[in-house]
Amino acid sequence: MNENLRIAVVGATGVVGREVVSALFDREVEAEQLTVLASERSRGETLDYGEETLVVEEATPTALEGHDLVLLATPAEVSRTLVPALQKTGAWVVDVSAAFRADGSVPLVLPGFNSEVLDGPLKGRLVALPSAVTTALACVIEPLRRAFGVAQVQVTALMGVSAGGNAGVRELEQQTAALLSGREPEAGLLPQRVGFNLVPQVGPFMAQSPWTEEEAGWTLECARLFAPRGEVPVVAGTAVQVPTFHGHGLSLQVRLKKPAPVEQARAALKGSPAVKVLDAPGEKVYPMPSLVTADPTIHVGRLRAFPQAPEWLTLFATVDNVGRGAALNLVEAGLRLAARPG
Ligand SMILES: NC(=O)c1ccc[n+]([C@@H]2O[C@H](COP(=O)([O-])OP(=O)(O)OC[C@H]3O[C@@H](n4cnc5c(N)ncnc54)[C@H](OP(=O)(O)O)[C@@H]3O)[C@@H](O)[C@H]2O)c1
Repeated sequence: MNENLRIAVVGATGVVGREVVSALFDREVEAEQLTVLASERSRGETLDYGEETLVVEEATPTALEGHDLVLLATPAEVSRTLVPALQKTGAWVVDVSAAFRADGSVPLVLPGFNSEVLDGPLKGRLVALPSAVTTALACVIEPLRRAFGVAQVQVTALMGVSAGGNAGVRELEQQTAALLSGREPEAGLLPQRVGFNLVPQVGPFMAQSPWTEEEAGWTLECARLFAPRGEVPVVAGTAVQVPTFHGHGLSLQVRLKKPAPVEQARAALKGSPAVKVLDAPGEKVYPMPSLVTADPTIHVGRLRAFPQAPEWLTLFATVDNVGRGAALNLVEAGLRLAARPG
């Protein structure tokens, strides 16, 4: 690691940004300078970095200058505004928002899946990362694809409110407290009440489309990630906002190209370092959001197949959306870029 490295984390006060700062500390990254930035609302706030205290700066053009690596954990519209100026500074920029995921001129990189892209020729010094649900999908599909081929994946993603950042977490806290006190909660930023409810909408709908941007993103991001492997499974499904804080659960139906006994599918998943198989339902062992927090692997279990349709595999997966699904991707991609010569 280059000890002269100057790193900026933008959006450092958000749920993802805080996790990025903590992951940099856990990895004992020896940086000459670590700047933490956010909006002007957070100027002067402090964040712990081990024994050190980092003071949050406002992400002005001047404050963003002079870094080798900029990790963007900001809303998409903020990333879109900041990136053109950042590219002129010569820094490597990694963005975890949806701003550039669909932009064919910006590489979409999932560390551990297509990390080699980070070592190849890169125009623009900008890299986009997939969503947390796509991260989980790609990690589950890839070992099955290698072993049997995957034609299609249907997914229902049960998404914790931290998908909506600090605001989502606050909203569930407030709604739960109000409802337990017998009060109807006030309307918040989420489209419907999430407290003691399930809402089949996460984020906005696409213009003139029945799909939300979140759902359309899984299809498009999986297509971008799998295209270089010459086999693009059709991925589609529904995003559901659930009244939990952290972790997403994915109920998956996978249509294999070659029917496989469940034992073989389990063995294929166990062979992947990105996946942890928790599949002993008789002993109440299966993936749950409460188990996946702070775990960098995707948990997989409840593997089943119908004898009448042996090409369809049914399973349940969980991902730490803030850690594995966002902050770790930012840190791993960023540090690999920073280690490139020149
Ligand atoms: N949460 C997840 O599960 C997840 C997973 C994958 C990807 N992502 C993506 O990661 C990004 C961050 O998400 P989050 O969940 O951490 O959101 P968040 O908790 O709302 O945090 C947003 C961060 O961006 C900062 N920010 C807002 N406006 C800004 C501006 N004009 N200039 C500079 N900084 C600004 C905020 O600063 P203030 O505190 O000062 O407002 C805060 O630090 C989003 O693009 C999201 O889509 C999130």
